[in-house]
Amino acid sequence: MIFYFTGTGNTGFVASRLAEETGERLVSIASAVVKGEYDYQLAADERIGFCFPIHGWRPPFIVRDFVKRLHLDGYNGQFCYAFATCGDDVGLAFDYLRDDLQQVGVNLDSVYSVIMPETYNFPFIDQIDTPETAQRKIADAREQLAAMIPGIVNRARGEKNINKSRWPRTNSIMLGGFFLKHWVTDCKFTVDTGACIRCGKCQQVCPVGNIDCGTGNPPEWQHNGLCTTCFSCYHHCPVHAIDFAGRTRGKRQYYFNQ
Ligand SMILES: Cc1cc2nc3c(=O)[nH]c(=O)nc-3n(C[C@H](O)[C@H](O)[C@H](O)COP(=O)(O)O)c2cc1C
Ligand code: SF4
Ligand code: SF4
Repeated sequence: MIFYFTGTGNTGFVASRLAEETGERLVSIASAVVKGEYDYQLAADERIGFCFPIHGWRPPFIVRDFVKRLHLDGYNGQFCYAFATCGDDVGLAFDYLRDDLQQVGVNLDSVYSVIMPETYNFPFIDQIDTPETAQRKIADAREQLAAMIPGIVNRARGEKNINKSRWPRTNSIMLGGFFLKHWVTDCKFTVDTGACIRCGKCQQVCPVGNIDCGTGNPPEWQHNGLCTTCFSCYHHCPVHAIDFAGRTRGKRQYYFNQ
């Protein structure tokens, strides 16, 4: 079973590849949380995977909330791994996940990460990779993933490609805590209603159903408490009408579409 969360598709790509190679089913954490589904039946020889992007040097809060409520019927020490995609580095994200899993009695055996194109558009700088850099990162990630898959298939224990950064505690504990408290919010999104062509794309791509375009209206953020600031709405808008914190207009957009 592969539990995954993805905003702009990087992690969705990794999770799909793992599902192909292991033959195991995919479970969207976003859909599960929206539906309130936390109980799953595990087969005796089934692997348990958690795939997610790094948000503020931690797993996205929706992943952590899901894990803390998870009940795996039939869990008897089956192989459990986590796979993160990140723009640069993961900090202590896997330590957070390991602790969360321990709370529900599940042991994390292996952790993996790959660098993929950046998706966070920090309001004060243009963080999104150029198309060339994004292509290079995807090509490298494909190769690294291919090299990691046999370990996952064969239930190997250990760590692969974990770049914690130079100051993982400062990043994950201090900056990550500040980020979560002040910057993970849908209240900073606005739409240029003059530019919006009312296509409804932003509503379709929001993983947690937090956007309502009605019938042919500009988006309205629903403040449903599940927005992870994954930026999927921002990146998919075909006319770049969505802005975050009044500072991202005209900056690059990206989503995984290969
Ligand atoms: C809100 C947010 C915070 C992020 N924080 C980090 C971070 O702390 N470290 C990092 O390396 N990448 C960070 N990123 C980049 C993503 O982890 C990376 O682009 C990931 O592959 C996106 O996956 P997705 O397309 O499945 O959503 C962040 C992205 C977002 C949207
Ligand atoms: S509202 Fe936008 S940023 Fe928030 S979860 Fe939905 S797509 Fe992601
Ligand atoms: S994706 Fe952009 S153009 Fe389409 S409805 Fe949303 S804001 Fe408007």
